[in-house]
Amino acid sequence: MIVLAIESSCDETSCAIVKDGHEVLSNVVSSQIEVHKEYGGVFPEVASRLHIQNINFVIKEALDKADMTFSEIEAVAVTQGPGLVGSLHVGVMAAKTLAWSLDVPLIPVHHIAGHIYANKLSGDLAFPLLALVVSGGHTELILMEKDYSFEILGKTQDDAVGEAFDKVARQAGLSYPGGPIIDKLAQQGKKNYQLPKVKTENPLDFSFSGLKSAVRQLMLREERNGRDIIIEDLAFAFQMAAVDELMKRLELALTKVDVKTVVLAGGVAANSQVRERSASIKKNNPELSVLIPPLWACMDQAAMIGLAAEHAYQAGFVADCEISAKSNIKLPH
Ligand code: KG4
Ligand code: ZN
Repeated sequence: MIVLAIESSCDETSCAIVKDGHEVLSNVVSSQIEVHKEYGGVFPEVASRLHIQNINFVIKEALDKADMTFSEIEAVAVTQGPGLVGSLHVGVMAAKTLAWSLDVPLIPVHHIAGHIYANKLSGDLAFPLLALVVSGGHTELILMEKDYSFEILGKTQDDAVGEAFDKVARQAGLSYPGGPIIDKLAQQGKKNYQLPKVKTENPLDFSFSGLKSAVRQLMLREERNGRDIIIEDLAFAFQMAAVDELMKRLELALTKVDVKTVVLAGGVAANSQVRERSASIKKNNPELSVLIPPLWACMDQAAMIGLAAEHAYQAGFVADCEISAKSNIKLPH
């Protein structure tokens, strides 16, 4: 099946052509980061407007790069949610229009399912599978007993981990998105500052707002004492603490569930420390398949929606032109 996939849940307008559920023939991403940088984060109204401006060009380029025409498309897949409703709406409208005019199935895909199935680029997904989803909007431990069935074992009680990276960066006067900047700075930093450990009632839940406040307190304390903050060391301390919280919970979950595969998913899976720590999980559990998407596939893009589409379709997710964007849609169980 040749699927044309669309993703527009946040600040990337993207279209991909995916063949037979695994071969990415093209993946075009138009990023709005340069525009949103000025606001220190994603400005939803601006994001929707830019999606409207870009969507047709992105679709055309994806077809051109795959050397395809509309007549060869056999299904259209789209991120139905979660995300910014105005942004999602643009992708959903485009997908509905295409599916209707080409008379092919319309497959609604959950954004987080897309992030998880991006791991098909790195290996086979054998079930049961445990996913650690770490993005700008989500931080979740998800158990998949079977294909396209998701059980949330733990989730963040406040900020998502990517959001915490972005907020800490903003506090420190760094640009948006803060995650990759902190990652780079941390590589030049050393152990100098101490940050507290996080406690949650459910040991598989996450919390990052306390860590973010602790960074703020640390910065204020240094300022009061007339010391300049060493930004590289601050980045090192925050990244170490945040990644430790993620990995500790993943390791704990692995003592509670028996799985064949572990996958990392979402923008923060691009973090160098996350990648290093997941390599050591693999080393300590040689019987386990530990997957992490290639760097480009950690971020929001439509290829992941095309990769997940086949699974959503087989699980019965086919929509008609009545569907609408859903900013808070839950994962199917
Ligand atoms: O998955 P994604 O592209 O969008 C959402 O679905 O949210 O994730 C974006 C998030 C941002 O918060 C960004 O700062 C973070 O991923 N991120 C990183 C890195 N690269 C992107 N965080 C830490 N280290 C990185 N290298
Ligand atoms: Zn995402």
